[in-house]
Amino acid sequence: MNTLLSRRRLLFGGTTLAGAAMLGGLSTGALRLINPAMGELAAPVTPIRMSSNENPYGPSQKAVEAMQAAFSQSNLYGGINGQIFELLSKIEGVPANHITIGAGSGELLHAGGVLASLEPGSIVSPYPTFNSLARAAEVLGAEIINVPVGEDMHIDLNAMYAAIRPDTRLVYLCNPNNPLPTIIEKQALEDFVRAVAKDRLVFIDEAYYEYVDNPEFSSMMHLVAEGLNNIIIARTASKIHGFAGLRVGFGYAHPDLIAKINQVKTGSISILSQHAAYTAYQDMEFQDFSRARNKEGLALVEGMCDELGLRYVKSNANFAFFETGMDSDVFRASMREHNIMVGRTFQPFPTWARVSMAKPEEMAYFVQTYKKLYA
Ligand SMILES: Cc1ncc(COP(=O)(O)O)c(C=O)c1O
Repeated sequence: MNTLLSRRRLLFGGTTLAGAAMLGGLSTGALRLINPAMGELAAPVTPIRMSSNENPYGPSQKAVEAMQAAFSQSNLYGGINGQIFELLSKIEGVPANHITIGAGSGELLHAGGVLASLEPGSIVSPYPTFNSLARAAEVLGAEIINVPVGEDMHIDLNAMYAAIRPDTRLVYLCNPNNPLPTIIEKQALEDFVRAVAKDRLVFIDEAYYEYVDNPEFSSMMHLVAEGLNNIIIARTASKIHGFAGLRVGFGYAHPDLIAKINQVKTGSISILSQHAAYTAYQDMEFQDFSRARNKEGLALVEGMCDELGLRYVKSNANFAFFETGMDSDVFRASMREHNIMVGRTFQPFPTWARVSMAKPEEMAYFVQTYKKLYA
């Protein structure tokens, strides 16, 4: 067995039984059963979104009520950022002055890209990954050094370290990564951050943090709490909290760095989003519910991959990444005909697909459709 195969076995795990058992016990929700004996689902009336890693359930009812109650304050500047920072300070164990808020974590990624490009230089980034920060830096003249993921599809820290040049201003890491839902092993990551952050910024994007259920993973928030002054961590309310359309994200860093980020941010977020966030971050029931449904969906898709022998990357997030056996543009068009929207093509994996978790019953329809067409 060559290294790739042995690694695959290690990393591309899962069980067929779990997937099959899930299908039997599912509530069909809004999808109509056309063959109850076989559990066959009818095509949905409107397209199911499995393309943008959104939470199909959010925002929570409590967050919606908080927004409704805040409507009458919409004539006022300001808001409750201070209260939100105090709350997050308790949750994350970092002082409140180490936190900033943005219009989604996208704004903080943009700010990181701008800060790193104030002087000419380069940015080291994995490939593939979420490239908002690199795009912002590139527009300002930074050179982007893309470091391919390893054979095992994980971010290759050794290769990233080797790619750092004297002019490298920032190293970007996405953990879990996107579109590959892999994580970086915690001790290796901490050693890397401590070494690299001595001389340059390290930006860690933890957008999918709340979905991770893997003992090898750890957030690097403790390094911010410890006072490291060259690390920025981004989190978002867009994923587990279902806020993609509300635009709330957070940056965690040393107060000197927070001040610089605040200088390059464009402004504040709406008072409705602030109240929704303050409520959502305390709504553990909704977060647990979302995590549980996400696991069910992943078990269905990864169970299908096991059953059909399709290679996949074991997911640590709210999306699956698997080899479809065809050009992924063809796959996407074929799914669209069945009212399913899946993710775009991600190079350098032209035959793989990223499929975001919709509701479990919708994932069952996806599995049913894929099997009907291609099994
Ligand atoms: C890894 C990663 N970071 C950041 C974002 C941006 O999210 P938002 O700007 O909605 O917080 C996304 C969105 O999909 C993402 O996948």
